[in-house]
Amino acid sequence: MTAACEYRPGLEGVPATQSDISYVDGQRGILEYRGIRIDNLANHSTFLESSFLLIWGYLPTQDELDEFEHEIRYHRRLKYRIRDMMKCFPESGHPMDALQACAAALGLFYSRRALDDPAYIRAAVVRLLAKIPTMVAAFQLMRKGNDPIQPRDDLDYSANFLYMLTERIPDNLAAKIFDICLILHAEHTINASTFSAMVTASTLTDPYAVVASAVGTLAGPLHGGASEEVILMLEEIGSVENVRPFVEQCIERKSRIMGFGHRVYKVKDPRATILQELAEQMFEKFGHDDYYDIALELERVVAEKLAHKGIFSNVDFYSGLVYRKLGIPTDLFTPVFAIARVAGWLSHWKEQLEENRIFRPTQIYTGLHDTPYVSIDDRGSSADNQLVAELLMQ
Ligand SMILES: CC(C)(COP(=O)(O)OP(=O)(O)OC[C@H]1O[C@@H](n2cnc3c(N)ncnc32)[C@H](O)[C@@H]1OP(=O)(O)O)[C@@H](O)C(=O)NCCC(=O)NCCS
Repeated sequence: MTAACEYRPGLEGVPATQSDISYVDGQRGILEYRGIRIDNLANHSTFLESSFLLIWGYLPTQDELDEFEHEIRYHRRLKYRIRDMMKCFPESGHPMDALQACAAALGLFYSRRALDDPAYIRAAVVRLLAKIPTMVAAFQLMRKGNDPIQPRDDLDYSANFLYMLTERIPDNLAAKIFDICLILHAEHTINASTFSAMVTASTLTDPYAVVASAVGTLAGPLHGGASEEVILMLEEIGSVENVRPFVEQCIERKSRIMGFGHRVYKVKDPRATILQELAEQMFEKFGHDDYYDIALELERVVAEKLAHKGIFSNVDFYSGLVYRKLGIPTDLFTPVFAIARVAGWLSHWKEQLEENRIFRPTQIYTGLHDTPYVSIDDRGSSADNQLVAELLMQ
């Protein structure tokens, strides 16, 4: 029965779960968290309130939100053993690798797997939301040879992260804009890293392993790593005049233009629209960025050349421009994405546990059967063997 199933590379269009966490309409450019439009949340909510909404399924009362924020505020610190472990990481290592290792290491300290205990679930949610930003900021300071700075209990979630990262209390607008960026990146249905989180969750392992596996998946350039690639690409393009030849060359070589295209959206990603507005607010208050002119021209030329294929800017296209203006180094863009997406991963972890069945899809086998075992003395050179293998596979 399974052999007759149609194989769809990348599982495109194949439902992998039933979920009521978020919804995307890729034709109309709509994203909702628990039914609430993303622009509505960006205008009115905060990252922690939206995280509560995603994870517990409803907008909290003031008391519930206060309690949630309070718990997170007081779990931001890292154990000294985790800080000591981080000090041994190579400075040249990518911050996403550092984050993946740190998230996994939390499992060493909080390993009790009481997955049917709501208090355990709550504690894991709080711990991960609270500590991931501290880890990202700590690695940034440590790789510059500095001690990490402690979180400040008088600062809210986003302001505190920027403070721990830059060692300065951020401007209110900058902190607000960063918080909106986190809302925009918090959740996006069954994307690659969320799927990775769900597969790991389905084995009933601990939530730290769930988040660590998702961080590893988010790191790739086809997923969260794209925002970093966008800035490198804008740097490579260098000027507005170079945009058209760059796009033409990409199309000729069939290479990807970073920050464009999406499996689900066939129109401009609604998050890209909001991020572009945020970038403009940042430029207005803190000064222009010449990369924005290149980005605008790039979006125009890509629309001219690739709109017929449904390729438009995605969430990663403008986020890097906002982060640059906030003083966030390019290779921290994906860890910042992870800070936000922890909310989505945890929502799906919790949902997965509610009706769990281990993921175990099938495959369509394309190899040989009954192949003879050839003793090592009778095998030809590797080149001969490769040729034989290729012939047999035809
Ligand atoms: C996001 C992404 C991985 C989705 O991939 P996908 O759904 O598997 O899309 P496909 O690879 O099937 O691409 C469909 C067509 O669009 C083209 N295409 C897709 N994204 C493109 C891009 N960024 N630049 C140029 N062409 C692109 C493909 O070449 C393909 O063309 P073809 O049909 O003529 O061969 C892909 O668009 C991409 O690589 N984008 C760049 C990386 C990025 O920004 N990622 C962040 C996503 S939020």
